[in-house]
Amino acid sequence: MIKVIIADNSDLMSKKAAQIFAERIKAKPNVILGLATGGTPVKMYKELIRMHKQEGLDFSKVKTFNLDEYLGLAPTHDQSYRYFMNTNLFDHINIKKENTNVLNGLAKNADEECKRYEEMIKKAGGIDIQLLGIGGNGHIAFNEPGSAKNSRTRVVSLTERTIQDNARFFKDISEVPTKALSMGNGTILEAREIVLIADKTSKADAISKSIEGPQTVDVPASFLQSHSKCTFVVDKDAASKLLKKSYEYVNV
Ligand code: GLP
Repeated sequence: MIKVIIADNSDLMSKKAAQIFAERIKAKPNVILGLATGGTPVKMYKELIRMHKQEGLDFSKVKTFNLDEYLGLAPTHDQSYRYFMNTNLFDHINIKKENTNVLNGLAKNADEECKRYEEMIKKAGGIDIQLLGIGGNGHIAFNEPGSAKNSRTRVVSLTERTIQDNARFFKDISEVPTKALSMGNGTILEAREIVLIADKTSKADAISKSIEGPQTVDVPASFLQSHSKCTFVVDKDAASKLLKKSYEYVNV
C-alpha cells in the first residue's frame, strides 16, 4: 500500500521529503541513500544543504547510489546526472565523494558497468531509503512503460516523450541522449523504504494511475503498490486527479 502525503505546494513537498531523509540520516549516520535527478528534487536538495549548513546535518558517513545516467555523457558534461548531483547537492555538504555512486555513462562496456553497480549496491548492504521522481508517462528512474517488474540495472532506450520532456535541459532536442543506464524496477523495489516526490499538474495523470490504477508494466510506478514502505509526497497539483479523499494532508 502506498502512503500518500499531499502538501499545499511544491515548496512544502520539498521540505517534507527533506525532513524524511534528514530523520533517516540522524537515525543511522551511515545510511545508504538512493538518489534521483530531474527538476523535482532540486528544492529538496537545497533544503538538505540548508539543514547541513544551519543545523549540522552530518553526511560524513552517508553513502549514495543514484538511479540512472545518460549513456554517452561524460561525468563532467553539464547535463550528466553525476554533474547534476555534484552541483545540486554533493559539493555543498560534507559527504565524501568516494561514498557517492553514479553509473558511468562512458563505461567501455555498459552491460558490465550495470552488473558492477548491482554488485556494489549488494556489497554496501542494500539501499535504506530510495528517492524517486516520476516521468509524465509513469516511468521511474529510466524504466519506461513496458519495463518488467523484476528488471535489473541495464541499458535502456528512452521513449520519445521522455526525450521531449528532458529536452528543456539541453540546447537542442537532438542533443538529448536516446539511451541510458538505469536501475531496474526490481532493483528499486529492493530498497527498504521508498519516497516518491512529484509536483505540477503535468504529473497528475501518472500519479493517479500509479496509486489508484492497476499494477501494470504500462505504468512502472504502479509497481510501488507492492512495496511495504512506500510514501508519495506530492503537491496539490500532482494530486489533483486522485479520486479517494483519505490521504494525509500536511502543512509542514
Ligand atoms: C528523468 C529521470 C527520472 C525523473 C524524471 C522526472 O527521466 N530519469 O528519474 O524522475 O526525469 O523529471 P522531472 O523531475 O524533471 O520532472
